[in-house]
Amino acid sequence: MTRLNINGKAVTVDVPPDTPLLWTLRDELGLTGTKFGCGMALCGACTVHLDGTATRSCVTPISAAEGKKVTTIEGIGATPVGQRVEAAWRSLNVPQCGYCQSGQIMQAAGLLAKTPKPTDHDIDETMAGNICRCGTYQRIRAAIKAAAGGA
Ligand code: FES
Ligand code: FES
Repeated sequence: MTRLNINGKAVTVDVPPDTPLLWTLRDELGLTGTKFGCGMALCGACTVHLDGTATRSCVTPISAAEGKKVTTIEGIGATPVGQRVEAAWRSLNVPQCGYCQSGQIMQAAGLLAKTPKPTDHDIDETMAGNICRCGTYQRIRAAIKAAAGGA
């Protein structure tokens, strides 16, 4: 049994400790907003926060999440930064197919929580590992700036 804190709630899961957090969220807890893309930390679709830091859940065993606060796309809107990011994403109609977007939002929220006024360089550097096959990168950058209060 592993005890986890997901979006402020304590849960217990009965899976091996090396089970990826991504599959635990999706298959055990029904939190399917976090997406599977590559399974190898290469695309960012599975991004969640561990103690506020953007983390690839596909390569994070639940043993590494124990004792930390896990925040997913289902919970990020409860934080002030998450609210601003989600509002900017809506107002700029960022998503196209949408598949990558929960990971993009989690990565962006992690950036803004640590760097409230990011430069273009900060944005490019932080978001570089989040792939969007639909090419929404320009809108993502604009939405991050809007969420930061700069647009
Ligand atoms: S599914 Fe985790 S980075 Fe691609
Ligand atoms: S919106 Fe389609 S992959 Fe990013």
